[in-house]
Amino acid sequence: MTRAAEGDEERQTHRVDAGGEGASGPRAHGVAKIAGVERLPEHQARVRVSYDAVTDAYVERVHDELSHKPLDRALLTAFAEQVQDQFGAGASVCDAGCGPGHVAAFLAALGLTVTGIDLSPAMVTRATALHPELSFEVGSMTALSAADGRWQGAIAFYSIIHLTSDEEIRAALSEFHRTIADHGLLLVAVHLGEHGDATVHADEMLGVPVDLEFRFFDLEWLAGEIAAAGFQVEARLVRTPYPGVEVQTTRGYVLARRVGEHVAA
Ligand SMILES: C[S@@+](CC[C@H](N)C(=O)[O-])C[C@H]1O[C@@H](n2cnc3c(N)ncnc32)[C@H](O)[C@@H]1O
Repeated sequence: MTRAAEGDEERQTHRVDAGGEGASGPRAHGVAKIAGVERLPEHQARVRVSYDAVTDAYVERVHDELSHKPLDRALLTAFAEQVQDQFGAGASVCDAGCGPGHVAAFLAALGLTVTGIDLSPAMVTRATALHPELSFEVGSMTALSAADGRWQGAIAFYSIIHLTSDEEIRAALSEFHRTIADHGLLLVAVHLGEHGDATVHADEMLGVPVDLEFRFFDLEWLAGEIAAAGFQVEARLVRTPYPGVEVQTTRGYVLARRVGEHVAA
């Protein structure tokens, strides 16, 4: 069950089929303050509370997911190989919106030094418990604490999907551009909208009450925004969902290389 946000004509409401039953979710008001994030916009606070609540169910759902997703593994492997070709073995990358760290662990097994960052303290706690050899932090990709050029690459797998305004998407891309060294790589994965860009509200995920928005992207628009943020787009992939493995949405991926200065959007 989902409900529409009142008074926002751009938002559409669908069932977000993440496997659960409906219920009213928690809602955090105003600007929240959490460790690692000084000031959190209201809707990011709702994302944090929601993922804190759904952590157990999410871990159960995704812990083995990559082993059934060959194209995702192929893209992550290409990302890891190209980053290490450019910067050497053990290059440092960020997994932004890392969830419980399964993608970070896959990249680490390929030789990268990975730091996972997530808005949800519960996800970070779980990721640390599951992968104690890796580094995880609470933070928001729209206001990263990392220094300029800290990473040789970054991935954002199904995490910019919770940034609902174009300005927020641009803020995250600007942060990736600031924190990725020149010639470093960015790999982004999103859900694609059937009719272009759309945002939906969900009040349940995997049977757990939540209160958050999911954005479905137009891949050409996203690739254009990535280019405008100062990256050269090297590859795009659109794939149909793997039946029985994941939510049945069309998936889109963009692989891009940081070049030069940020171009204001
Ligand atoms: C759908 S899950 C994806 C997790 C993991 N990347 C994967 O592929 O399974 C989205 C994750 O992004 C995190 N997230 C959402 N907004 C974020 C933000 N602004 N900064 C950092 N993490 C965020 C959520 O807490 C959640 O763990």
